Amino acid sequence: MKLFKHGFIFTPHGFEKKDFAVEGNCIRIVTDNESETFYDSVTDCSNCYIVPGFVDVHVHFREPGFFYKETIETGSYAAAKGGYTTVCTMPNLKPAPSSLDTLNEQLKLIEKNACIHVLPFGTITQDQSGHGELSDMEAMADYVAGFSDDGKGVQEGDLMKKAMRKAKALNKPIVAHCEDESYLHGGYIHEGEYAKKHQHIGICSESEWKQVERDLQLVKETGVAYHICHVSTKESVELIRQAKKEGINVTCETAPHYLILCDEDLQESGDFKMNPPLRSKEDRKALIEGVLDGTIDMIATDHAPHSFEEKNKGLKDSLFGIVGLETSFQLMNTYFVQKKLMSLEQLMKLMAINPRSRFHLPQIYIEDGAIADFTIINLDEEHTIDRNTFVSKGKATPFDGMKVYGEVKQTFVDGQCVYKK
Ligand code: DOR
Repeated sequence: MKLFKHGFIFTPHGFEKKDFAVEGNCIRIVTDNESETFYDSVTDCSNCYIVPGFVDVHVHFREPGFFYKETIETGSYAAAKGGYTTVCTMPNLKPAPSSLDTLNEQLKLIEKNACIHVLPFGTITQDQSGHGELSDMEAMADYVAGFSDDGKGVQEGDLMKKAMRKAKALNKPIVAHCEDESYLHGGYIHEGEYAKKHQHIGICSESEWKQVERDLQLVKETGVAYHICHVSTKESVELIRQAKKEGINVTCETAPHYLILCDEDLQESGDFKMNPPLRSKEDRKALIEGVLDGTIDMIATDHAPHSFEEKNKGLKDSLFGIVGLETSFQLMNTYFVQKKLMSLEQLMKLMAINPRSRFHLPQIYIEDGAIADFTIINLDEEHTIDRNTFVSKGKATPFDGMKVYGEVKQTFVDGQCVYKK
């Protein structure tokens, strides 16, 4: 049995200064007069906050198929280091999980190598092609967090409608990467001032929000639980805000980089290249408003690791994707909690509570009987982001060298310490 003393724990009523113990895989609140000699270990949590383990519903762990970019072992350890105890993995893999057979390959690797809970998404379309036939959603339903073709949008409305009907019958969410390919024209950064000035090909905002608009209509018709990935444009935020007012069954996520950076911050480096791209200052402002008024439900990282060679070809030729698991909490704490734009409780909603609610995962607070999936954080510790210290195989981040506040001290899954600083 392990005892944790003097920390602020996150309860259903907010933060309270209380001691607690971990017995097996459960939490027990400890009364003042219990003797320490009872316990195998005592951890002093003075100045620390103990919070439910974070949940990231959008990561790429690259196995099977692309282990040189990331493995389930390295990805899950990076997540633990970032304070996460559950992640959902995107299915742009080789083979893509489109049937029970292909999904099983991934499930076996997860079982063997993950140090946190890893829940995969199955694809929407066969081989995650975004066209043609649906995957074997029925066979996969019991083993997946939902269905997604992340990395690609589902191009035909009719096909998406069919997928939504099926997902609704299976009681699983559709998790949509909204991107209408007919608007792309070879673009790779936001179609804005920076693209114009530096002769880059831009990606217009319509490529995202037109598909958001199409899908919201289909959600209205089908009633499926619909979640939108990495929202990046002001138009999408407004569409989602209105849809929620109408009672449409929609939630969405954005990522720290869309809230902190915009296309004015772009540099000629692969570290700044991801899809969707960093948008304009106005888009960023709308996303922040969306997070603060509850239109945007959760923060995901879209942790998308690639090799050094794949990311070292400049803005135009590098692959899309940056890593995020090891920096997300610090960035959100620094830019939102420390600047008093939101409370720590609000950040916990965005990183732990809302994703659990939406994806039907057991809710966790630090209270008697709860599963001991938790994270010990210090809010004030200052450090500089250094990609060379990342345990992820991916090192590409636009935040390298940035001074941030907040540190994950320890992460526990099912009562076991899976990360310790
Ligand atoms: O930047 C991105 N990288 N966006 C995506 O949609 C896919 C992802 C990846 O898999 O690398």
